[in-house]
Amino acid sequence: MSRTPFRLALTGLAAGLSLAMSQPAARAAEGGVKPPALNWSFSGPLGKFDRAQLQRGFKVFKEVCSSCHGASLIAFRNLSEPGGPEFTPGQVAALAATYQIKDGPNDQGEMFERPGRPADRFPSPFPNEQAARAAQGGAYPPDFSVLAKARTYVRGFPAFVFDIFTQYQEQGPDYIHALMVGYKDPPAGFPALLPGQNYNEYMPGHLIAMPKPLSDGQVEYPKGPDGKAQVPETVDQYARDVAAFMVWMAEPHLEQRKRIALWFMPFLVILAFLLYFSKKKIWSRMPDGSPAH
Ligand code: HEC
Repeated sequence: MSRTPFRLALTGLAAGLSLAMSQPAARAAEGGVKPPALNWSFSGPLGKFDRAQLQRGFKVFKEVCSSCHGASLIAFRNLSEPGGPEFTPGQVAALAATYQIKDGPNDQGEMFERPGRPADRFPSPFPNEQAARAAQGGAYPPDFSVLAKARTYVRGFPAFVFDIFTQYQEQGPDYIHALMVGYKDPPAGFPALLPGQNYNEYMPGHLIAMPKPLSDGQVEYPKGPDGKAQVPETVDQYARDVAAFMVWMAEPHLEQRKRIALWFMPFLVILAFLLYFSKKKIWSRMPDGSPAH
């Protein structure tokens, strides 16, 4: 019987190891190129979102991606909450009102449309998955709400060991950025593309049904005092901004999580001291029956 906890621990360890090594959900860049690791303002224990970047990312999402992709877990009001893009409540109310939201039934039992309110969820471009597939030649544009967490790639040995120390966990945005800039002509010898297929360097298997969504100059960014956009209006920049926005969508409390963890560290140090001295005190009189201190 006394062996049971030991066996349990072993089984748990084995299960954990095999899970870590197989990474079933990982989008390995199978035979493809690994996405480059970019610098993100929100990486590391002290990381914070760049508000201006999140606001630009939202603009890219709204003007480009949201014609195919939904973000059904996000409510308009989230956009003004602390730790996110932090639009003003007024801006959010005005934005919500530009959408028509299906509501009802009314007293006559009919569904009706009304202007959006901050509490409404972001409306999806298609009424259901089947409609989305029908419009995209069979492919389904996945919902963005948690996509930045759902997409990753296998870092492989030894990177995953270093990642523990560097605290690297930005596979999601790195992959999304790479995907946006990874549209290329297929290399010589690659099988001919069928209609609706596009070649992408970073998509597993290289074939993606999404046509290249971004091009330079497509989205207009807010201008600085000199009348010029403060960041370049390029595919690379759009991709960084929309990926950062998607990270916020997938983890709206990222900043809070990191802040709490930081405060928790001194507590752990104090606890370690307490435990050490308690242990010394308790065990000091045990082995040879000598008197307690
Ligand atoms: C014309 C419609 C359309 C637009 C616009 C569009 N997408 Fe997509 N997207 C798709 C489709 C369809 C898929 C599914 C592709 C597949 O499974 O081959 C997809 C898939 C994706 C994926 C998942 C890829 C994977 O690993 O499975 C990401 C990430 C993505 N899109 C990001 C974006 C971003 C960011 C934008 C805006 C800059 C955008 N998309 C704009 C249609 C679109």
